[in-house]
Parts: sequence; structure tokens; C-alpha cells
Amino acid sequence: MCGIVGYIGKRNSLPILVDGLKRLEYRGYDSAGVAVINSATEVKLFKKAGKVKEIETQIPVNEFEGNVGIGHTRWATHGEPNDNNAHPHTCMNEKFYLVHNGIIENYKTIKKKLASEGYVFHTDTDTEILVNLIAFNYKKHKNNFEVAVRLSLCEVDGTYGIACLCIEDPGKIIVARKGSPLMFGVGQDEIIVSSDASAIIAHTKNVIYLEDGEYAVLRRNGIKLKTIDDEDIHREVQEIEYDLDMIEKSGYDHFMLKEICEQPDIVQNTYRGRIKFETGEVKLGGLTNIKEKILNAKRFIITACGTAWHAGLVGEYMLEQYCRIPTEVEYASEFRYRNPIIRQDDVVILVSQSGETADTLAAMREAKKHGATTLGLVNVVGSTIAREVDAGTYIHAGPEIGVASTKAFTCQLMSLILLTMMIAKEKGTIDDEELKKIGAEIELLPYKMKQLIDKKDYFKYIAEEFKDAKNFLYLGRGLNFPVALEGALKLKEISYIHAEGYPAAEMKHGPIALIDENMPVVFIATKDGTYDKVISNIEEVRARKGKIITIATEDDDNIADYSDYVLRVPKTHEILQPIVNSIPLQFLSYYIATARGCNVDQPRNLAKSVTVE
Ligand code: G6P
Repeated sequence: MCGIVGYIGKRNSLPILVDGLKRLEYRGYDSAGVAVINSATEVKLFKKAGKVKEIETQIPVNEFEGNVGIGHTRWATHGEPNDNNAHPHTCMNEKFYLVHNGIIENYKTIKKKLASEGYVFHTDTDTEILVNLIAFNYKKHKNNFEVAVRLSLCEVDGTYGIACLCIEDPGKIIVARKGSPLMFGVGQDEIIVSSDASAIIAHTKNVIYLEDGEYAVLRRNGIKLKTIDDEDIHREVQEIEYDLDMIEKSGYDHFMLKEICEQPDIVQNTYRGRIKFETGEVKLGGLTNIKEKILNAKRFIITACGTAWHAGLVGEYMLEQYCRIPTEVEYASEFRYRNPIIRQDDVVILVSQSGETADTLAAMREAKKHGATTLGLVNVVGSTIAREVDAGTYIHAGPEIGVASTKAFTCQLMSLILLTMMIAKEKGTIDDEELKKIGAEIELLPYKMKQLIDKKDYFKYIAEEFKDAKNFLYLGRGLNFPVALEGALKLKEISYIHAEGYPAAEMKHGPIALIDENMPVVFIATKDGTYDKVISNIEEVRARKGKIITIATEDDDNIADYSDYVLRVPKTHEILQPIVNSIPLQFLSYYIATARGCNVDQPRNLAKSVTVE
């Protein structure tokens, strides 16, 4: 949800900012812009609607040199995505330049106040109000840049990650955070500011994370860290865990394709060192301090958004089936606003790739307010949810750049499986033989997943057949119902084909009316307790001439009789089957979208990390 980058040091900042913007573009790509100051305190401001790649050649990288600069990629909230509303924004007297991620909720009140002081505005953004407020406070407080920023932030309600330049104080960038992530890399005589580590990693691995309610004054070789309430802070530098090649495409056409294909390796990172394959015993070190609370929980509430919510639905099946603990799954955005009943003996599980999703974060805080125990299943190390939960376990999917989540989903499933196994063993709700079987199958899982990656050309062929479809239906039951939902979400996100996921048996209560010879229906029909019922549902679609694509296990000799196309998957333990079944669905949507010429890594209107409500 908007990416922020900044540079102060000895090097020319523009190429560094542009490279950073490209890396942060997954956070939003409605427009991009930079503001750079040179040694003669001249400013170059460039901003334009469009993706960085589209406008890159117009950015004056070779014409202007300055050692201090800020940049922004936008996911529009206030004001349409045009050149004028692009960041950086400047104030009326053009002394300040600001990039902002978040929403200033009381911008109208501030605008009124500033307007009465003679300020005029040229954009539809809340950010322009904030930069003018800084200018106003600067004048009022003896031209002190730091005081102006700090006092302005005390006046605003809402969320922000900001980076600000002042042409009368050009040796500094001031950054601040409340609700939108911000960090900076500390290099040799230089500092690189970014919304996440991806824009920093090429320059240094040493970073400082800014916390909510804090700001920092960054000089080339000095950092001052304070709270908005003016208290000093000392924070140790931390080391980023991953390498540059993890955020590169490494020869793949798209990040999404790379991320699908690397799943057999990546999923091992989720369970490595946490499971004994021979017995199925699981140890999740990060949960030690809340283990008793987990084991004594009267109820689990899983709350998340998007793909992570689908993972949560699979989690519900698993936790109830194997641990016999009542489990509810809630959209985080609904949970927080409907005055939910949360008890102290509830464990609220937050599933989030980014660890920054505003609604999930708010749901977590709501749960804490009511005294429930919070447990995070998060990917991004050091993210806000990861830091604020009572305890958690990282899913270790590594950086996920493709906007449509793939490997994070399968790693979220794996984390939920490990959690289920740990609880079920401790509570004695699973017998040792069953646990052993799951352990043995987890050991085999990467090989089975790899078999599917090797079949990608076949999935591509099927995708070609369906690339012109107008609608798709995805149906599954039990553990495979959320898999159907996720399959449909993947397709609509990146190909813009309307797709719906449904419990297979519910089809007859509505979606069946849509079925004719033009409607492809994907059945997730791997063998489990509901298999025969799913076959009956397939028959119902066949009778109405729908086109049937089935996901079926390799040992299923009958399924071809019922299907137009069969996508075969290896059989595994039922708890692991959703991981395996998801892979052909990811390929199907990827290849359909690319066949339609869609930009799969940057689908329209979406953003990877949704840090606004
Ligand atoms: C956005 C992303 C989805 C993601 C969802 C939740 O909509 O495009 O891929 O599933 O946010 O994000 P989180 O980071 O909390 O998992």
C-alpha cells in the first residue's frame, strides 16, 4: 500500500531511488515520483501516473545529481491516480517535499485551518495537507524542520509512514511512522530509507526498524531516533535475514511463476527443525510462552484477510478435526467492527503474509484489548503483527513479491498443520500412528510438490483451452472447499475472469443456474471422505453440459470418465492434500492470465500489502 524510499549519502541518489521504487512497486503502482536535492540546494521533482517501468526513461537520472532524495510508488486512496496526485507532494512555498503511505483521517479539519491562514491546495490528496501543515509549523516554530514535523504529526489522526525533505535544511531526511511500516538501512556514510527491506538489501543488511509513534532525523552519518512525544530512543541495528537473489526473478518470466515453482523448497523452510518425521512430533519454539494458554483454549478464532483467510479456513477444519477445539474463522475487517465476543480463554490466531495488513492488525489489537491470547502466523520478520502478538511462529516463505500470494499460502497451510499436530499430540486427540503417518508424508511432500512443478507445460496447455472463458466455478468439499475459494481468487485477481468458489454441495442452491456449455467448472476431487459426494456433484454439472476440469489423485481410475480434463496430483495425507492441490490451480490461473496478456505480478487495482482499512 504505497512504497516509500529515501537516500542520503555521498552517492547520486536518483538511480538508488529508482531501483528502490522498482523493488517496492508491488506495494502499489498507480504512480511514481522522486524529489532530489543537489549541493546547490536545487530540487528536482518528478512524478507521474503509471508504473515505474513505463515512466522510468523520463526520470532525469542522468541529468541531475543530488545526494539526498525521496521517492514513492502509489496505491491511490485520496484522489484518482493521475500525475497531479502522485507523490512527492510539496507545500505552497515549495520548501518541503513529502512522501506518505497511509491516510490522514482529519485532513479536512486541517485543510480548513490552513485555508483560513491563506494556504491553497492543488491536489486531491491528504498528503498535500500534511506537507503544508509542516510548512505552517515551520514558520511558527522559528524555522525548525524537526520541530515542525514532530508537532505536525501530533496534530494528525490516522496512519502514516513518511519521509520529508526541507530545502532550507538539506542535510537531513526526517522519517516517521504510525501504522505504516518504515525502516532504514545503515551503510557506510549513507542511509537508505524504505517501506521494507527489499529496497535496502542491495546496499546493506544492517537495518533499524522504526516503531509506531517514532520519528528519526537521518543525516549521512548520524541518526537521531525519538518518539513523537519527544523522548530519546536507542535502538540496536539488526541484520536482514535474506539475500538479494531471493528478491530477484532469477530467470523466471514473473515473480509469481518463480514463487510457484520454488514451493517444494520453500515449504521445507516452514517445518525445518520443527518436526521429527519418524514420530510426527512438532516443536514450535516461538509458542513456548503461550503453550499452556493454547492447550487450555476454549476456542480458537482465526482472523485474516484475502488468501490468508483461506488458509485460516483450512486451519479451522484441521484444528477441529484433530484437536477437537472449536474454531471460528473471521474476516479481520468484519471482526473488528462487529463488537465480537472475545474471552480471556480464547486464542486468536492472526494469519498474515506481510504482518502489516491494517484490518488484521486492528483485529489483533481488539483481541488483546479483551484479554485473549494472540498468536501470529506471519511471514515478514519484524513486521508489526509479528512484534505485537503474544507469541508466534514465522512461516519462513521468504520474500513474496508477486501480488497474488502463492508460496505464502502453502507455507501458511504448513504452519497451521504443524500447529495442529503439536496441539493434537499434547492434548492426546490424535493417536501416535496417525501422527507418524503425517510426519512421514511431510518428509515426502517436497518430492510430491516437485512432480507438479515438472508438469507445468500440461497445465499451460489446459490454460490455453480456457483463456477466453468469461466465468469459472471452483468447487470442493471439506478441506478442499477453501482450496476452491483460493483457486477462484487467484484466477480473478490476475486474469480478471469472474470466478467463484463454492462448497460443491451448495452449488445446487444457486450457482447451478449459471451452468451451461460455456461454464468451466473446476472440481477439487481428490480422494477423501467426501469423494463420492463430489462425484455426484460432478454428475449434476455434466448433466447441464458444463465443462469439467478435475483435480484428482493419480490412483483415481474412474475420474476421467466424468471429466473433460483431469489435472493429476500425487496422493498424500488428507491434511497435506490442500497444499498439493493448490499447485495446479496456481499454474492454471498464472497461465490463463499470461495467455490473456495480463500483468500477473502487478494486477490492476491490487496491492500486496494493504495497510489502509
Ligand atoms: C492483499 C494481498 C493478498 C493477501 C491479503 C492479506 O489483498 O493482495 O495476497 O492475501 O492482502 O495480506 P496479508 O499480508 O495479511 O497476508
